[in-house]
Amino acid sequence: MKNVLLGKSGLKVSELSLGTMTFGRETDEKESNIILQKYLDAGGNFIDTANGYADGKSEEILGRALKGKREEVVLATKVFFRKGPGVNDYSSSRKHILKAVRDSLHRLQTDYIDLYQLHCWDLSTPIEETLETLDSLVNQGVVRYVGVSNYSGWQIMKSLWVSQGQGFTRMVSAQMEYSLVVRDIEMEVVPACQAEGVSIMAWGPLGGGFLSGKYQSGEFPKEGRLSIAKKEWEESWDRRATEKNFSILKVLEDLAKKHQKTIAQLALNWLLSKENVIPILGVRTIQQFEDNIGSVNWTLSPEDVKRLDEVSNPESRYPYRFIQWANSIVRA
Ligand SMILES: NC(=O)c1ccc[n+]([C@@H]2O[C@H](COP(=O)([O-])OP(=O)(O)OC[C@H]3O[C@@H](n4cnc5c(N)ncnc54)[C@H](OP(=O)(O)O)[C@@H]3O)[C@@H](O)[C@H]2O)c1
Repeated sequence: MKNVLLGKSGLKVSELSLGTMTFGRETDEKESNIILQKYLDAGGNFIDTANGYADGKSEEILGRALKGKREEVVLATKVFFRKGPGVNDYSSSRKHILKAVRDSLHRLQTDYIDLYQLHCWDLSTPIEETLETLDSLVNQGVVRYVGVSNYSGWQIMKSLWVSQGQGFTRMVSAQMEYSLVVRDIEMEVVPACQAEGVSIMAWGPLGGGFLSGKYQSGEFPKEGRLSIAKKEWEESWDRRATEKNFSILKVLEDLAKKHQKTIAQLALNWLLSKENVIPILGVRTIQQFEDNIGSVNWTLSPEDVKRLDEVSNPESRYPYRFIQWANSIVRA
């Protein structure tokens, strides 16, 4: 597995990150440990968790598993979501972050976090307060690097602007949903991150498992992550089972035969073909890990990437459409 630099920092991380949202939830500790070891054996060093995953169990499992290996890995966790019944038990406020970081360190059995990420833009806390708090944690040596997740383009730019103006630690990464079936970030977030040298960590790289090819057109699934009917959460069957998404799967099937790869490997390789994008593997089983890790050490041809780009092309919206059109006519 190759290493890449994270954002504009000197931190080297593997080109595929290991997500651990399933650890302690769908995946028990024994199987989680095996998946983690297989990822390390494959040359991976970049592990993503959050204080909310499996109500803290994901961090606890990592804390036990990484004993004696802490320096070998780049450990990323997150803060924002609710951790208790109190009014200050969630958010990106100074009070909540300072409590949450202590709790994460305790569960992870470490005295520092490599990448501390804000799990979602907070509508109620001034960004200055949040970024100042993260900066103080970097100065105390508790946090090494800072990142965000689920931010819009202007929220990323505003945060960078505040960091620069105040001399606060600048974010190195933005963790966003990104896959062949969810390309919304290409309108704002991707151009903002490319222009500013912020790495994109792609969560949901298989659209919640849709891009493994295990779901067949029209059949409501009895099992698997997508056996949820409603659009309450990003990864519901209703949201995924569209005509367009099935036509993306058809192209993937075709390319899978051509390359002798699995559909999941192709979908992940498409993300790896994008500049500055680090897919985060999400797996429930060892078999799924063994499948998905086969997405590295080979590349799709530019023609294959173009075919996938075209079949999954998101509908162009205003003002992006207008900007493209106006620039094309003035150049003509
Ligand atoms: N920042 C955020 O807000 C946010 C949100 C979500 C996730 N994340 C991070 O991103 C990571 C990955 O996200 P994700 O879990 O949504 O990724 P994903 O790859 O889109 O979905 C993973 C799920 O798809 C199924 N799957 C995966 N590989 C498969 C294969 N080869 N064959 C068949 N089924 C397969 C499994 O579910 P089933 O077997 O149960 O169907 C697995 O749990 C998470 O672990 C977490 O670290 C971050």
